[in-house]
Amino acid sequence: PIPRSTAAPVTVTLTGAGGQIGYALLFRIASGQLLGPDVPIRLRMLEIPGGLAAAEGTALELQDSAFPLLHSVEVTDDVTRAFDGTNVALLVGARPRGPGMERGDLLEANGQIFGPQGAAINAGAADDVRVVVVGNPANTNALIASAHAPDVPAERFTALTRLDQNRAVGLLAARLEVPVGSISDLTIWGNHSATQYPDVFHARSGATPIVDLVDERWLSDEFIPRVAKRGAEIIAVRGGSSVASAANATIDHVFDWVNGTGESWTSAAIVSDGSYGVPAGLISSFPVRSVDGAWQIVQGLEINAFSRARIDASVAELIEEQSAVRALGLLPS
Ligand code: NAD
Ligand code: LMR
Repeated sequence: PIPRSTAAPVTVTLTGAGGQIGYALLFRIASGQLLGPDVPIRLRMLEIPGGLAAAEGTALELQDSAFPLLHSVEVTDDVTRAFDGTNVALLVGARPRGPGMERGDLLEANGQIFGPQGAAINAGAADDVRVVVVGNPANTNALIASAHAPDVPAERFTALTRLDQNRAVGLLAARLEVPVGSISDLTIWGNHSATQYPDVFHARSGATPIVDLVDERWLSDEFIPRVAKRGAEIIAVRGGSSVASAANATIDHVFDWVNGTGESWTSAAIVSDGSYGVPAGLISSFPVRSVDGAWQIVQGLEINAFSRARIDASVAELIEEQSAVRALGLLPS
C-alpha cells in the first residue's frame, strides 16, 4: 500500500459540492492535483439543503475511491462550520446561466450568496486562507465576499479567469498547429464576461512573438470574440455551461497560487492596486506570477492603443457591476 503522508492535513472547503463542477473537482482535489501529491486533504463540502443528498452521494464515492491523501470528508449546509479553519476555499456554488443570458444577469440571485460566505470566512478561516470564486459573475462575487471579510487581506480573494486563459491558449495552439506548451505569456484582462480581453501582444510560441504569426483581422474578428464568448458557445453546443474545463482551470489556479509559477505568467482576477490604470480595489484579471505563495501583477508591460481600449471597456463593466451590487445593498457601506 502507498503510505499516507505524515504532513498535517490542509482544510479545503468547496461550495456547491453537490453540483456539476463540484463533481468534476472533488476527485481531483482528493487525488492530490489541487495542492500537490504529498499534501493530505481535509474536505468540507458545503451545500444548500436541496443539494445535500447529491453531495452526500459524492462523499460516499470519495470514500469508495480510497484516496491515500484524503484525510476526512464532511458534508454540511452550515456556512460557519464549512469555513471553520479553512485554508483553501473554492466558491463554486451558484446558479449557472442558460442560453441567451449574460453572466451579469446572475448578479442579484448569486450576489446574495457571497456576503454570508465572506463573513463566515472572516470569522473562522485560517490565517493563510486563499479564496477563489468560480460562481458567476465571478469577479463581482469575489468583490462582495472580500468586502464582507475586512480582517482577511483583500489579495486573498480571487476570481477564476484561468479558464479563459486556457481557452485562449487552446485556440491559438490549434490555429498555429503548435503544442499548447509552446505558448506563453498570454494575458486575460478584465472581467470573466464577454468584455474580457485576451491579449496576445506579449505572448510567444516558443521564441516567436504571436503577433508575427497571426494577422490583426483574425485577432479582432475571430480570436478575441471566440475566447470571450466561449462560455456561451459551450452552452449552445453542450446544452449546459462548462464543467470539466472549469474544474480543470480551478485546479490550475490554486496549484499555481500555492506552488508558484516560473518566469512565464498566467492570468487571474485579483484585487487591483491601481496597476495598468485599473481602479484600486476592483477584482480584475491581470497578468500574474505566483511568488512565495502570493500573486504578483506582472509590471512594466507596454499597452498599445488596441489593448488599452479593450482593457478599459472590460474595466468599465466591472465598475458598473460594482455600482449595481452596491445599489442592491450587497456591498457593506
Ligand atoms: P450547478 O447548478 O450544477 O451546481 C451549483 C451547486 O451550487 C448546486 O448544487 C447548488 O445547490 C449549490 N449552491 C447554490 N447556492 C449555494 C450556497 N449558497 N452554498 C452552497 N452551495 C450552493 O452549477 P455548476 O455547473 O457547478 O456551476 C456553478 C457556477 O460556476 C455557476 O455560477 C457557473 O456559471 C459558474 N462557472 C464559472 C466558470 C468560470 O470560469 N468562472 C466556469 C464555469 C461555470
Ligand atoms: C464559462 O465561462 O464557461 C462559465 O463562466 C459559464 C458561463 O456562463 O459561460
